[in-house]
Amino acid sequence: MKLGFIGTGALTSAIVTGLKSVAKNPAPILLSPRSESISADLAARYPDVRVADDNQAVLDGCDTVMLGVRPQVAHEVLSGLRFRRDHHVVSLIATVSREEIAALAAPAECVTKALPMPMIARGQGATIICPPDRSMAALFGSLGKAIEVESSGEFDAMSVVTATYATYFKYLETIHAWLKGQGVPDDKGRDYIATLFKALAQAPDTKPDADFTHLAADYATRGGINEQVLRELTSRGMFEALAESLDGVHRRILAD
Ligand SMILES: NC(=O)c1ccc[n+]([C@@H]2O[C@H](COP(=O)([O-])OP(=O)(O)OC[C@H]3O[C@@H](n4cnc5c(N)ncnc54)[C@H](OP(=O)(O)O)[C@@H]3O)[C@@H](O)[C@H]2O)c1
Repeated sequence: MKLGFIGTGALTSAIVTGLKSVAKNPAPILLSPRSESISADLAARYPDVRVADDNQAVLDGCDTVMLGVRPQVAHEVLSGLRFRRDHHVVSLIATVSREEIAALAAPAECVTKALPMPMIARGQGATIICPPDRSMAALFGSLGKAIEVESSGEFDAMSVVTATYATYFKYLETIHAWLKGQGVPDDKGRDYIATLFKALAQAPDTKPDADFTHLAADYATRGGINEQVLRELTSRGMFEALAESLDGVHRRILAD
């Protein structure tokens, strides 16, 4: 595989870093020259990563091309390029449909959407891939987990999950702030919370057949303190409010 990237920003940088430092992927990589400091830095760090003269030179020098520009400029950038029929086009552009990319990348016949996350740089997290694509599942699977989905409906719904990260950290921050209010030193509270939640995050792996309700039930002993917090937050509508926010994000993704 000769891999090219059009758009060398935060996400491309994370993928290239992951491929070269975690997966030790031998595929040569060609980067578009915009964001000069990022592309030059990647080329300096890894011997088989080069910066092309322009976007067309990236396309001409690769067989697989990842599109990492922002949605606002996607149409303008792609419509000026000459794709080949045998290019494998992998769009990372979150809010532009596969059909739109396929039209812009014609006559390329193989067009895939992928949604990796920045933690891919450390070989962590999961990448959603649509439609199922063996070579991309292998590539992204070498950097965490690859989850292939059949339909754009499934892809769009799963992408809503990525809107919940900040809320997760706000949840941890609320616990941390409460501990500080009790006089617990900042670093000890942070260490304790981070270590406990890291262990909790592993529970689905240790019990692969248990759904999340069962995992919650494992901790919500009747009459116990976990049951108390769960019951109180449920009765205040916290989880209904979360589900409504997910609906709102979904509507926004579908409208884009
Ligand atoms: N970051 C994430 O967590 C994340 C997660 C999932 C999906 N995505 C998707 O990934 C895409 C990239 O996101 P990002 O966070 O990496 O954005 P970013 O850091 O802003 O990178 C966008 C890159 O596109 C370059 N660019 C702009 N116009 C160009 C042109 N005409 N030719 C070539 N390159 C051009 C920019 O260069 P300049 O800096 O020189 O303008 C920049 O290097 C987006 O479509 C986003 O939806 C991002």
